[in-house]
Amino acid sequence: MSKIQLISGSSHPLLAKTIAQGLDLKLTPIKIKRFIDGEIYVRIKKRVRGDDLYLIQSLSPPVNDNLMELLIIIDAARRASAGRINLICPYLGYSRQDRKVRSREPISAKLIANLISKAGANRLVTVDLHVDQIQGYYDIPFDHFVGYPQFANYLKSHNYSNLAIVSPDIGGVKRASKMASLLGAPIVILDKRRPNHNQSEVVHVVGEVSGKTAVIVDDIIDTGGSIAAAAKIIKKEGAKEVIVCGTHALLSGGACQRLAKAPISKVLFLDTIPGCEEKLPQAEIISLAPLLARIINRVHNGQSLGALFTWEKKEVKL
Ligand code: R5P
Repeated sequence: MSKIQLISGSSHPLLAKTIAQGLDLKLTPIKIKRFIDGEIYVRIKKRVRGDDLYLIQSLSPPVNDNLMELLIIIDAARRASAGRINLICPYLGYSRQDRKVRSREPISAKLIANLISKAGANRLVTVDLHVDQIQGYYDIPFDHFVGYPQFANYLKSHNYSNLAIVSPDIGGVKRASKMASLLGAPIVILDKRRPNHNQSEVVHVVGEVSGKTAVIVDDIIDTGGSIAAAAKIIKKEGAKEVIVCGTHALLSGGACQRLAKAPISKVLFLDTIPGCEEKLPQAEIISLAPLLARIINRVHNGQSLGALFTWEKKEVKL
């Protein structure tokens, strides 16, 4: 069996450190610096020849820097004759540009897939892709985990009841419906429109929220516009309280002010993006580090990952 080495890019050192602790490993030392003109320099400071690498890097802001850094680290590892290069990318940026909507637009998610594969990654592990089909953009093994069981587990262990699980748009219905069935709760769907990029409005509510604890579950909280609009209309429809569960807390622009002003009693995030606890201190963060450590351990030992999908048997245990 090849040796295992964990390498962290600079996007999320805290998550990488916590994963390493969970695996009782030390992170492989790496030098990452910027030249004065902004170009990136990388040197892996330990031999990796023949070893299996697990490279932890989210495509979080600054997304373009983190992407370029990721590609350069993969290149350095490949040229140093590493064994398998496994990319642990909890947040895969550019996933919202997954198709052409209008003429002369790119499909950036596919371009990113080409870049990552061409650089030399042998496997990609990620969480809550914006759309599942992005898996097909890659011709390398692709392990896609979902965040909703973590939220369901939290709500169960904190004894929340009389819930309604809300999808803030049509694209999120599958996620909300799976979470609803895990919690034995009804689903509510919002009909969201986007008049322009980064703007949203809710025009219809399908389902009943009156008197219930409404749980809005979304993959990305970016400007917070979708969530704020959703919370307002749900509250207007008579929800007792509104809880937000967001996997990737980008929190761009005025997101924190928008969320603070909205009628939301609790915000839960996963830690796929660094720094959300500082930006929005009232949010509770559920760490994915234990799950990611278990995934790395199982991949490295050639064990099935299906055994980690326990929520499919309705046992919320991770
Ligand atoms: C959109 O389809 C996504 O699932 C999120 O709802 C969206 O990216 C959130 O963006 P914002 O927070 O800017 O409204």
